[in-house]
Amino acid sequence: MAEIIWGLATSHVPSIGAAMDHHKTTDPYWKPLFDGYEPARAWMAAHRPDVAVIVYNDHANAVDLDLVPTFGIGAAGSYDVADEGWGPRPVPPVVGAPELSAHLVGELVDDGFDIATFHRLDVDHGLTVPLSVYCPDPGEAWPCAVVPVLVNVIQYPQPTAARCHALGKAIGRAIRSFPQDLKVAVFGTGGMSHQLAGARAGLINSEFDRMFLQAIESEPEKLAALTREEYIREAGTEGIELIMWLVMRGALSDRITRVHDTYHVPASNTAAALALFEDLGEA
Ligand code: DHB
Ligand code: FE
Repeated sequence: MAEIIWGLATSHVPSIGAAMDHHKTTDPYWKPLFDGYEPARAWMAAHRPDVAVIVYNDHANAVDLDLVPTFGIGAAGSYDVADEGWGPRPVPPVVGAPELSAHLVGELVDDGFDIATFHRLDVDHGLTVPLSVYCPDPGEAWPCAVVPVLVNVIQYPQPTAARCHALGKAIGRAIRSFPQDLKVAVFGTGGMSHQLAGARAGLINSEFDRMFLQAIESEPEKLAALTREEYIREAGTEGIELIMWLVMRGALSDRITRVHDTYHVPASNTAAALALFEDLGEA
């Protein structure tokens, strides 16, 4: 049977990817952020999954704002890297895991989550930057296959944090019921506090971020109880991306240990963080 071996929460700021693509990670601006990743990267390199289930949001690159599914899953054999205006990032194409995708869609629909299925999907920075955070030098190919899980966080009404946490639990059950012996990692991407436009552009709320970074491990229910308005008030219009961390946390079992975390301000206009949890499995 498939098992979940770890969960990674990470910001997906596009300039983090650009810093890697343009070899600027040792510049004074970027070095502290990338130094903060190092212990997690070393641990993950020693614990490679077969498949990464990556919970992310498309930023109107592949998903037209005329039709925005609340939740979606990619079911393709491969995904091209999206052109977000400067040409696609110079990273390998993303190889899918269509059998696991089909299993997840079937189990989730039976579990009451009416998932949209993507058979063609160009993946944007929301997915490729977390892959680069995990594996900075993939060479010709990423070291794992990927199942993209899409969450609408950009168009009102976003799903509630509680629904995202429940989706994560259902994804965890579905992964653990997949009959192949696969090692699976689950990524929750986005955050932390940030607002890119409007009167509060540039908003950072370190107190909220620190609380969230702590509670995601041991008190996810507390975070799941917050309303979307509370997320936006406390973390900014784009800080609501944090609800995707709750999908990852829901998929993990209750027996987890924190391998590493790091928090850094600013990366672009955001508070950037990473938190890595080993899943010790059901008791
Ligand atoms: C930016 C974009 C994002 O999608 C995000 O999550 C954080 C920052 C940006 O454009 O700076
Ligand atoms: Fe984003």
